[in-house]
Amino acid sequence: MKKVVAILASPRKGGNCELIAKEISRQLSEPHQLELLRLAEFDIKPCTACYRCLFLGRCVLKDDYPQAVGALVAADALIVAVPTYFLGPNSLLKTFLDRGMALNTETERLWGTPAVGVGIAGIPGKEGYTRLGLESFLKLALCDVRATAMLYGALPGEVLLGDEGRQSAKRLADALEGRAADRSEGPSCPVCGGVSIRFLGNDRVQCLLCSNAGTIQSKNGVIRLDIQSGGHELFATLDDATRHFQWLKGMKSRFKEKIRELKELNLQYEAEGHWVTPGSPVEKVSSKDDR
Ligand SMILES: Cc1cc2nc3c(=O)[nH]c(=O)nc-3n(C[C@H](O)[C@H](O)[C@H](O)COP(=O)(O)O)c2cc1C
Repeated sequence: MKKVVAILASPRKGGNCELIAKEISRQLSEPHQLELLRLAEFDIKPCTACYRCLFLGRCVLKDDYPQAVGALVAADALIVAVPTYFLGPNSLLKTFLDRGMALNTETERLWGTPAVGVGIAGIPGKEGYTRLGLESFLKLALCDVRATAMLYGALPGEVLLGDEGRQSAKRLADALEGRAADRSEGPSCPVCGGVSIRFLGNDRVQCLLCSNAGTIQSKNGVIRLDIQSGGHELFATLDDATRHFQWLKGMKSRFKEKIRELKELNLQYEAEGHWVTPGSPVEKVSSKDDR
């Protein structure tokens, strides 16, 4: 039987992330086993940027990351649900993603896992960059992103009180099973489908999901984004993903070449400033009282 894995970034039991993931699973027509993973129950430490995973093929931190990633790798299909905290996806999803360099040995097994994502926010319009963070997670986990949606509800489970939540769950379930795409709401990046765009000046724009740049045009009120693939594609193809990890591994020799220069530079800054360390008394800054 197919395994559908739901990654829940909300720590709230019986909350909106949990219920919407279960509702998407209910709306799937194919028989499947739903596996739920609440990130908050796992000890997933922040990445320490040691880069050793690139060469060892595993992360050296001792925690629950391998188990969580194991579930991701074993998924036939993926549902990711994340709450908005302070105008973005909550940090549990990002902390999990930040350990993703260790996935460099899993690119082929991860590549193309069908996935949908849901972001939940308490106040319509106050989701900030949640959707971008969610789509970045799915793309960087090398999924085949079938659809994403933002839903609104503050109280635990509120997202399913009206019809809208169930209808969205149905659309996402359909997309996960390949029956529809959910990208009908306006202009999107022609390279990756991203909907978060930065304006660079004049008519230049950049897609914040795939980082490619191009122009924005408007004709008869219809906006069109003309964005092309750049030289360093991250994840458009499996080859791109593999090449990116190779490029990262190449940083080791670049680091060795520059190490003396970098150390000298570092020394120039070493004694600068006063460190606030855990347990140290925080000194009162007098200039703040004078304001
Ligand atoms: C720390 C915190 C910050 C929040 N910040 C926002 C926010 O910036 N925008 C918003 O619309 N909702 C915000 N919310 C509300 C949650 O997104 C909302 O309650 C959502 O339903 C939580 O999903 P859950 O039920 O799966 O936990 C915040 C909630 C918490 C706990």
